[in-house]
Amino acid sequence: MARLVVVSNRVAVPDGKSKGRAGGLEVAVKAALRHRQGVWFGWSGKIARRDEAAETSTVQHDNVDYVVTSLGAEDYKEYYNGFANRVLWPVLHYRFDQAEFSRRDLSGYMRVNEHFASELDKLLRPDDIIWVHDYHLMPLAKALRARGHRNRIGYFLHIPCPPPEVLTALPGHERLIPTLTEYDLVGFQTGDDAFNFTRYLTRECGLHSRDFSFPVGDRELRVDAFPVGIETEHFAKTARRAIKSQFVQNVIGSLNGRAMIIGVDRLDYSKGLNLRLDAYEQFLKNYPDWRGQVTYLQITPKSRSEIPEYIEMERMVGEGAGRINGAYGEADWTPIRYVNRAYSRTALAGFYRGARAGLVTPLRDGMNLVAKEYIAAQDPDDPGVLILSRFAGAAHECKEALLVNPYDTEAVATALNRALAMPLEERRERHHAMYDVLLHNDIAHWAERFLAMLTRPRRPSWPFGMEAAAAE
Ligand code: G6P
Repeated sequence: MARLVVVSNRVAVPDGKSKGRAGGLEVAVKAALRHRQGVWFGWSGKIARRDEAAETSTVQHDNVDYVVTSLGAEDYKEYYNGFANRVLWPVLHYRFDQAEFSRRDLSGYMRVNEHFASELDKLLRPDDIIWVHDYHLMPLAKALRARGHRNRIGYFLHIPCPPPEVLTALPGHERLIPTLTEYDLVGFQTGDDAFNFTRYLTRECGLHSRDFSFPVGDRELRVDAFPVGIETEHFAKTARRAIKSQFVQNVIGSLNGRAMIIGVDRLDYSKGLNLRLDAYEQFLKNYPDWRGQVTYLQITPKSRSEIPEYIEMERMVGEGAGRINGAYGEADWTPIRYVNRAYSRTALAGFYRGARAGLVTPLRDGMNLVAKEYIAAQDPDDPGVLILSRFAGAAHECKEALLVNPYDTEAVATALNRALAMPLEERRERHHAMYDVLLHNDIAHWAERFLAMLTRPRRPSWPFGMEAAAAE
């Protein structure tokens, strides 16, 4: 079997410390790699000093080579904090207001992709299957092809792909987005994202297709949707155990019998935290009977904290939580528990299971695995209710959630009341339907489907509503 080479900005190098913290993607990538023997390549997380050359090192573990390279201080500034997270991230999330473009950052982004390609060049074999992940590495296939690599190369975008009307407003898009045609397969989270990309290919690159396969030179570019899943069964089992742990029991005990609403998000403007706080405030205002009867736990680890837009939102969310606690809190009741630290996945599984409502209201999200984990963690006999933004990719599969428009804070407040008051039978029915979907499309299935399509080309199967999207 050919080797699998996975490339992503972050690499989960085994260090013996991440027990209970491994994310679903990490688990899936590791399983696919172990099974096939392979390499996981990416950034080491280290920033070299100005006088130091980039350093690349390898750790072998369980049949997998983890190869990581450092970035220079300029690279980190221009590629990671610059073009990737201050231009591509906001624009692909439809947020021009948060974007800050500079040509220098675009050059830094291209330079780091060239550096990754040069390092990969040293280790690639002609029959390796290469799977590149996410917005940090769009031009990587082009850089590899320029070095003569004719391997099958797949790309998966974990975040949304907006329509060409939005994408073309990205300065430098004509230099960047068409490089995606150098891949053999480009995968997206939803049919809508895939369809948006095919429209870009037609409008901006003059490529035409009838079945989501595009002829590019002597190759064929295939585009399809692969909604990323979680380790559904495993997560459900973790939650069953975690709820009994002393730590989770202590937290639940500290609620003094109050219903818990839970939100778990990186501190990121795409998550809609300010509007979510407004919605909770509205809920307390409109449904006074719930005052003192409910506690909202918002777990929000800090993220990309050197970027000005993130610093600003950290301030605003902190102020928002403080304002609500000040206005509605009592000496013996805090309406919101807002914490900036990260918890282990085991602890989160227990919190999810103990929460009567899961509040997942991003303004835009590629998928959102918190929504899926909340469902998987519930007790099927007495499940909580998921309130989910219609703008999260997960809404395509979690149709029985209470789907909301996160900009409509009155509607989110109403949904909160409905979730907390929902009769048992309805909660069970909704949970059962969603759990079945998540069991079927779990993370292993996702990786297998992508790799099967990358390695054994065949006509696309029009999954997940692409036909409907194409007909619009
Ligand atoms: C999103 C992206 C990932 C990224 C993660 C954490 O989920 O799709 O590629 O790794 O956020 O962001 P960070 O900047 O800390 O890697």
